[in-house]
Order: sequence, then C-alpha cells, then structure tokens
Amino acid sequence: MKIAVVKEIREGERRVALVPESCAKLAKAGFTVAVEGGAGNGAFFPDDAFREAGAGIGSDPAELLSGADLVLKVQPPMFNRIVGRHEAYMMRPGAVLVGQLVPARHPDAVVQLAGRGITAFATDRIPRITRAQPMDTLSSMASIAGYKAVLIAANLLPRYFPMLSTAAGTILPAKVFVIGAGVAGLQAVATARRLGAVVEATDTRSAVREQVLSLGARFVGVETGESAEDAGGYARELSPEFYRKQAELIAGRCAASDVVITTALIGGVKAPRLVTAEMVRGMKPGTVIVDVAAEGGGNCELTRPGETVVEGGVTICGDDNLPSTLPWHASTLFSRNLTAFVLAFWKDGRFRVDPADEIQRAALVTHEGKEATG
Ligand code: NAI
Repeated sequence: MKIAVVKEIREGERRVALVPESCAKLAKAGFTVAVEGGAGNGAFFPDDAFREAGAGIGSDPAELLSGADLVLKVQPPMFNRIVGRHEAYMMRPGAVLVGQLVPARHPDAVVQLAGRGITAFATDRIPRITRAQPMDTLSSMASIAGYKAVLIAANLLPRYFPMLSTAAGTILPAKVFVIGAGVAGLQAVATARRLGAVVEATDTRSAVREQVLSLGARFVGVETGESAEDAGGYARELSPEFYRKQAELIAGRCAASDVVITTALIGGVKAPRLVTAEMVRGMKPGTVIVDVAAEGGGNCELTRPGETVVEGGVTICGDDNLPSTLPWHASTLFSRNLTAFVLAFWKDGRFRVDPADEIQRAALVTHEGKEATG
C-alpha cells in the first residue's frame, strides 16, 4: 500500500505530515512511503533523512498524490497554484486522506473531497477516549500553541517575567492571566510559571480548577449551576447571565494583568468573544494579549488573525498557526499521531476503512462520494 506526503502549501506552514522516524516505522510495517522533495525542509528534516528512513523522494506533487492509496497531510487540501489543480482532485477516487482537516472551518475542502470520492478522516474529530490518545493531534498541537504563546508574550512584554532582586532594586514578577484552561491553557500556565510569573487562570469547566492549582497558579471563576461540558467533554455554550458575570470577572483580571493568554473554544472549534474592545481600553499600556484562539476567529474583539496589532498601547498577537512556529517538534508529534492512527487500522497488508469503528466513525468526513454524518 502506497503512502504519499506532499509539501504543505498553506502560506507560512512549516510542518510536514510525516517525519523520517515514522517513515521507518511505516516502511517496516509494509507500507511504501513517498515524500515530495523539500517537504520536510521547513521543519529541518532534509530529503536525505527521509531516504535513509526508507522513503522514496518524488518531485511532482500531482504524480505523488495520484499514485497513492493513502495521503497524509497537515492542512486540509487546497488549490495548488503552481500545479494549477486542487489537491483533492490530484488524488485518485477511493484513496484515503488523513489529516487535521477541521471540516467545520473548511467546508469547501469537504465538498471537493466528497466530489472526488475520497475517504477522508479528520484527526481533529477523533474522540477523546483512551484508545485514541496516541492519535490526538489536537492535544499535541494545543500544547505547543500554549507554550509558544507565553514565549511570544515574554518577547513582546516591555517587562521581566520573573521576580528579581537587583542592585537597582526589586523587580516584581509579571502577572499573567490565562483564559481557557484546556490543553493549550494549562501548558501556557505551566510555561508562564516556569518563567517566574504570577499566574491566574479561568475556565467554565470547574473540573480544571485542581489542574490549575497543581501548576502553582490561582483559579478564578464564576460559580455556575449549569453543566459546562457536553457529552464529549468539550465546553458548551452557557447562559447570557453566565457570560455577563464572566465579563465582569475578565475585565477586572485583564486590567490587573501584564499578559493575557486566551485559549477558549466551544465544542473544540468556535472561539467565544470574551475580551471586548472596551476591556482592552481598560488595560495598562504595554500589556500583551496573545490570542491562541485566533484561527477560530479569536477570543478578543480586536484580534486580527495572522497579525500583531497595537491598540491603545496594548499589543495583540493573533498568530493563527502557532504550532508551525515550532516546526520540528510539531511535525514529530503530528507524525506520531498520524502513524498511530494508520497502524491501528492496518491489517493483513492493508488499511481497513471501518465506519463501524468508534474512532473512524467520529473522524470520517467523506466516504463513497458523500459527506459522512458521523
Ligand atoms: P479546547 O481547546 O476545546 O478549549 C479550550 C478551553 O476553553 C476548554 O477548557 C474550555 O472549557 C474553555 N472555555 C470555553 N469557553 C470558555 C469561557 N467562556 N471562558 C473560559 N474558558 C472557556 O479544550 P481542550 O483542551 O481540547 O479540551 C477539551 C476537553 O477534552 C476537556 O474535557 C479535556 O479534558 C478533554 N481532553 C481529553 C483528552 C483525552 O482523553 N484524550 C485529551 C485532551 C483533552
């Protein structure tokens, strides 16, 4: 069975779907792996490393995609301007695609994949069950995003993070406020603590309180009688009354902080607007906001996805692809997640499509010319 990996074509994307260590693992399992020349350059995996791992190197993405039974990608397929064709239409009908497709944000790609008869799996829809943990690209990438968000904030902040005793007097530690304490938020809390900041975090799910405290941060929240989680463990929408109370809390904490890291998502996809323009006006000049939810539209009203802007002395970073800024480890973890998915369904020399399987059913986006209904 042939696997193809092409160079990602989304602007600024430096990750590659498979790294050499995974190529070697898949080759050992019996796959033939072909990688587009230069696909790993952005993440510092040269062609020679892929060759040594048993992968073939090809130069034509159209040829690689049309010859593959299984295509592994980071980003959803898109129109390749150099080749002049959509990536979905370079794949052969019946082929399998696995990647972080985020179908809710990329409906056009879903239409193209269904139209071409591709069986597509979105790793971002893999259920959060124990068996699927090694395949969880959302968690791997969220952890990187949380870590990088704090480093970016430290870089943009006109102050120190740690407390310091100097001959010129004492420096007080930076105050960091993290909104949303899921995988990204908790990694942001841990990273800010390691740099010596005083950290507070909030979340609608009270279950994360203990996790925040265990990292040496303070938990601040609005007491709610409502259940804040859906059946899948994701946050769900709450009442207007809850959001009104939460806005008061957030405005106060933002005004008192030097750094605000926002990571809140509802249902794993939608970014609620939690930091308004008015709240930003109430923040101290020099404050830094890093909006980790920028790709989903942003938690801050003034975020411009993909840009860093300064509004009234407050710097707002809307980097919409933080994992790509740590491309070596992001690719390595992503590649391990995809390899775990592929090998879990590899039996008797072929990858088995089994919509009855709990993981595949949840991740399946298109199959046999139609959109899967889950
Ligand atoms: P996420 O990336 O979907 O969302 C980030 C955080 O934003 C969540 O903690 C959410 O509660 C929070 N949030 C939403 N609205 C908010 C608001 N108005 N104010 C403050 N915070 C708000 O979250 P993530 O990290 O992907 O986790 C979602 C669920 O999945 C959690 O229950 C987590 O424990 C679970 N999980 C399970 C895994 C597994 O078993 N394999 C792996 C990772 C996460």
